[in-house]
Amino acid sequence: MYYFVEPMAEDDIPHVQAIESESFSTPWSANTYRREIRNTQSCRYSVARVSAAPPPARLAPHGARWAGLFSQLVGVIFPQTEVALPSETPVVGYGGLWLTVDEAHITAIAVDPRQRGKGIGELLLSTLVDHAYELGALQITLEVRVSNLVAQRLYVKYGFQPAGTRKRYYTDNGEDALIMWTDPINAPEYKTRLAELRRHLFARLRQQA
Ligand SMILES: CC(C)(COP(=O)(O)OP(=O)(O)OC[C@H]1O[C@@H](n2cnc3c(N)ncnc32)[C@H](O)[C@@H]1OP(=O)(O)O)[C@@H](O)C(=O)NCCC(=O)NCCS
Repeated sequence: MYYFVEPMAEDDIPHVQAIESESFSTPWSANTYRREIRNTQSCRYSVARVSAAPPPARLAPHGARWAGLFSQLVGVIFPQTEVALPSETPVVGYGGLWLTVDEAHITAIAVDPRQRGKGIGELLLSTLVDHAYELGALQITLEVRVSNLVAQRLYVKYGFQPAGTRKRYYTDNGEDALIMWTDPINAPEYKTRLAELRRHLFARLRQQA
């Protein structure tokens, strides 16, 4: 199977909400997603899709936004690809961030529970890092439940480090949030690490494809 990322479109919202309802206890409304998607000045939302056939090399109408990771993915995984978008390409994950001044804040990332453990969460996070560069962010931050060790492990892999807690941040059960930050993402060390992680990720996805 081929996994790839695209900008989230309004038609994707019900599919995103289906994954969200299996992943989080405090879902967003469709209106919130629409508002975020339309705020292209400071927000980026993506969906991951799965397809039995290779994805196309173009992604109109948002193609211009995918100068970064996606073009690398297409180049690395699907060098000969020039086909139409396969009709069956279900959404299997999503993620997003927004920019505040020069900080990118990851607001959401989740993968369909039946599709976890295949590199899709990593593909989405790697895409979000690309979007942080594109928006001119200097660092990336997020909050994660202190009990969510799986997500924390993914974040640590991508250079996020704990930087404190927000007490009783989650309203459903009063759980604390761990605040995590990357080092400056323009530092050569971070870029080197990212390139290495992507090499491994692309090899893994290519093998799965
Ligand atoms: C967190 C989440 C997005 C990871 O997605 P995924 O597609 O399953 O993860 P991947 O297969 O890409 O794995 C990437 C990394 O995540 C970590 N990870 C994934 N599954 C893990 C598991 N079962 N146990 C420990 N670490 C795990 C590992 O660091 C892994 O890298 P590795 O393969 O080199 O060990 C997914 O578990 C999810 O949707 N969880 C529910 C929603 C959520 O908690 N979102 C985060 C909110 S802050």
